[in-house]
Amino acid sequence: MMTLHGGDLAVARARWGEPPGGFCDFSANINPLGPPAGAVAAAQAALAGIAHYPEPFARRLRAALARRHQVDESMVLVGNGAAEVLYLLLRLASGFRVALPEPGFAEYARAARAAGAELLPVAHDRTDPPPQLRRGDWWIICNPHNPTGHLFTPEQLLRAAERTEATLLIDEAFIDLTAAGEAGSVIARVPHRCNLVVVRSLTKFFALPGLRVGYAVAPRWMVAELDAARDPWSVNSLAQAAALAALSDEAYAARTRHWVAVERAYLAEQLASLPGFIVYPPSANFVLVRAPLPAHEIQRRLGPRGVLIRDCRSFAGLTEHHMRLAVRTRPENRRLIALLRSILEEEAP
Ligand SMILES: Cc1ncc(COP(=O)(O)O)c(C=O)c1O
Repeated sequence: MMTLHGGDLAVARARWGEPPGGFCDFSANINPLGPPAGAVAAAQAALAGIAHYPEPFARRLRAALARRHQVDESMVLVGNGAAEVLYLLLRLASGFRVALPEPGFAEYARAARAAGAELLPVAHDRTDPPPQLRRGDWWIICNPHNPTGHLFTPEQLLRAAERTEATLLIDEAFIDLTAAGEAGSVIARVPHRCNLVVVRSLTKFFALPGLRVGYAVAPRWMVAELDAARDPWSVNSLAQAAALAALSDEAYAARTRHWVAVERAYLAEQLASLPGFIVYPPSANFVLVRAPLPAHEIQRRLGPRGVLIRDCRSFAGLTEHHMRLAVRTRPENRRLIALLRSILEEEAP
């Protein structure tokens, strides 16, 4: 099974059938605590209003995000997931170059290609500006980086922005799942730098990938230009209501931060104890590993047991031995480790 992204349950079901109790999905990096109860309740309540259009441009949500980051509303672009926001932003790269991290999230290249931009793959941990970039070009850095977990400091990123004429787009889809959280973000610097854009997602931290909510904080002219030429209703009313409720749930955020800190360390340590496993130091809620067996072989053995992993073959620069594992709950992480251990034992001569 070779896919562009993790979390494709329909493909898994077609291949292995529905396991009793459902799949345990390590292939998509989603908070296993599930969505905040208040967000689910808000989406359910919003069902009563689906005979009406959603608020255009998600105005109330946009205002809440602007308050959260202490920026002007005119700098916030809300979209149907961070993915839509990336596609919108990269429209501005039409006819220009887009430097993108390799390996990296597949949608960067698809969005840049769709915009008619020229693609320039660069090392995923690069901080010195690619010399080919000029004003009008774009440079995407993912922080923390999916799938390697590489973490940049805000200082490194701001220095990179200072040293390039290109627009520097920092994808912070997973920043709220790192130890530093907001302190590791450059979002507060966007109003002070004309070539800095930050993209965020609500889908990972708040476990809402099916609702699709993401946003960017970007220079005012970009937001105005993109809002003038887009679908005003792309964020539906259930998603807007759930996002507003999720953002205000401080207790859920604290529980999530505690879970990810403890379980990230546990999973990485356990994986490192498996013979032949090389673990890339994780910084968010996923761990990249190089396994002694091909990842598709491990996937083939785990699938029938209802456990999904991300085979990383589709990432340029990674090998068939690379796989990415989401950090899940302690019982699930324990189960994964036990299954991996038994697969390795079956293989041992
Ligand atoms: C690095 C990165 N950026 C952005 C996204 C898109 O997130 P969303 O679900 O908000 O569209 C993903 C999703 O996997 C991702 O891995």
